Amino acid sequence: MILVSILAGLCALSHVALGDHVKNFGPSKDVARRHSPQIFNAVHNAMRQWGSSVHHNGMSMFLATVPEGVLFHHGNDRPETPSEPDWLAYEVEHAEGFAHGFSGPPEHKKPPPDRKLGRSSYDQKVMGSKVRPSGRKAGWLHVYRTSRPLQFLYVDGMSGGKTFMGTLDTQDYLLRGDRSYGAGGREVSRAGGGPMNERLRAAELCELCDEWGLHGIIRMEAGFEIIQCNFTDGLEQIQALQRPGPSGQPGHGRGIQSFEYLRGIAERYFDIGSSRTIIDYSSMVSAFFFPVNLTNPDANRPDLPRLSNTTDAELAAIKEYFKKTLDQRRNEPRRPIDWQDVSDIIVSRYADRVDYMVNAAPSTDAIAAEISFLIDLYVDYSRTDENSRPDAIDRCTNFYLKTVTAVSEPDQLIFEAFKGVTSKICTTLFEVRDLITSSESSDESPLQTATKKLQSLMDFLAWARFRQCSGCGRDEVCVIPMWPFGAEDDYFHPRCGNSSDLSGSKNYWSGLRRP
Ligand SMILES: *[C@@H]1O[C@H](CO)[C@@H](O)[C@H](O)[C@H]1NC(C)=O
Ligand SMILES: *[C@@H]1O[C@H](CO)[C@@H](O)[C@H](O)[C@H]1NC(C)=O
Ligand SMILES: *[C@@H]1O[C@H](CO)[C@@H](O)[C@H](O)[C@H]1NC(C)=O
Ligand SMILES: *[C@@H]1O[C@H](CO)[C@@H](O)[C@H](O)[C@H]1NC(C)=O
Repeated sequence: MILVSILAGLCALSHVALGDHVKNFGPSKDVARRHSPQIFNAVHNAMRQWGSSVHHNGMSMFLATVPEGVLFHHGNDRPETPSEPDWLAYEVEHAEGFAHGFSGPPEHKKPPPDRKLGRSSYDQKVMGSKVRPSGRKAGWLHVYRTSRPLQFLYVDGMSGGKTFMGTLDTQDYLLRGDRSYGAGGREVSRAGGGPMNERLRAAELCELCDEWGLHGIIRMEAGFEIIQCNFTDGLEQIQALQRPGPSGQPGHGRGIQSFEYLRGIAERYFDIGSSRTIIDYSSMVSAFFFPVNLTNPDANRPDLPRLSNTTDAELAAIKEYFKKTLDQRRNEPRRPIDWQDVSDIIVSRYADRVDYMVNAAPSTDAIAAEISFLIDLYVDYSRTDENSRPDAIDRCTNFYLKTVTAVSEPDQLIFEAFKGVTSKICTTLFEVRDLITSSESSDESPLQTATKKLQSLMDFLAWARFRQCSGCGRDEVCVIPMWPFGAEDDYFHPRCGNSSDLSGSKNYWSGLRRP
């Protein structure tokens, strides 16, 4: 008997249990290079509401630390601190929506989210409180402070979005090994507690966090949140006050309140703020590192990656790799320069200039001037030999990558991906300059050809920055769907919206319907 179980243990360890085809399955630099823009964007958008709304199907996981002294908010219907896994919001505006009692039909019978930004009774249930028999009543807003640094699993993208579009793939398929939500297995209503088994999801993810020595999971919906597995471990309550009743309150007009929520969340478009969460990029594990099929079965949205066609064995292997990475990274100090800093410097140098060249430059001369400005840094004008060009492109490609030293295998994969991005930028810029300055004639005007090439660079990069609104007024925010809110048009064409101008024709998130 003992021998049998030892053998079984060995088999599991050597991945035989995963099946032959995954024996040599692992992350690879080739695959990382092929997914250069996706990996670059995952790093660049981590803990940022804007980019994570644009690229809402997150395929990556990170170890994240919340330092001591950070405030979190929790709204519910009672003065007591939750005794089970529950939700913490980074923003007051987010938690306030949950600070009341509930009534009405069970949540799976509720209508899909309001297409307006207005807070419906449905989305107040999203965090999964129990159904109350009585009417809606005043609730409680709790404030907690971290009493020491806490470590979390951060799942990127719109990972708090309870949708069938793929926002839950990493949690459900990969971490929980549960394919039912999109495939007609377990019913949406089972186990109750919020849409799409949110309570059960939290409980299972917390079991995993316990096993992995983490305090919970960081996710994003309309606002960043934490599924905190144990409210008495590393948190101290600093305030718990009852809210006013639901009706007849001055200043609680639905429109204004919703808009203030959106405004609060939009403050986090580009930064979660005040170092409230520190990501260890060297711990990044992404499906984009692995040779798996990420094609979306929904042919209308090839831009959104899915894990639906990835096999169970592949998913288990990725999870195992992440666990190993966590074990290696857990006690490592954070480095002063991280990959997101590198991505910021690259994006801030190139994004608006490339955008300008494609969408606003009046002439080839204007483009030529802009490109010269961008690449002169890398050109040694004392040289005219045949290698001077490739050397310049090489300098351009590697310039910003010198600031980080790879210490982990994920670092090496991120490096390959970043290099894929800078290499594409640099080769395109040099090519376009040649094209503009050469006298060769073609059917197209040089301006058209240059614009086309630069446009395809923008398409390749798919930077969330390219989708930002410009010049919103003080009474407006740039509107993009953030679960459960948002109109379909606003995903494809984000725009400045004010408090009376937030509705759209159709909710982007397709409600709770299975496709
Ligand atoms: C929560 O954490 C506290 C403090 O570390 C501990 O005493 C308690 O047993 C934990 N609760 C559970 C359910 O693990
Ligand atoms: C990859 O997944 C897509 C979507 O599920 C599927 O149509 C395609 O056949 C798969 N490709 C391979 C090689 O399995
Ligand atoms: C992937 O898609 C192909 C083609 O649709 C299908 O035959 C195959 O069973 C799928 N594999 C998984 C693991 O879903
Ligand atoms: C919001 O914008 C619309 C359209 O630009 C405008 O008609 C409306 O007066 C604005 N509402 C407020 C409250 O400013």
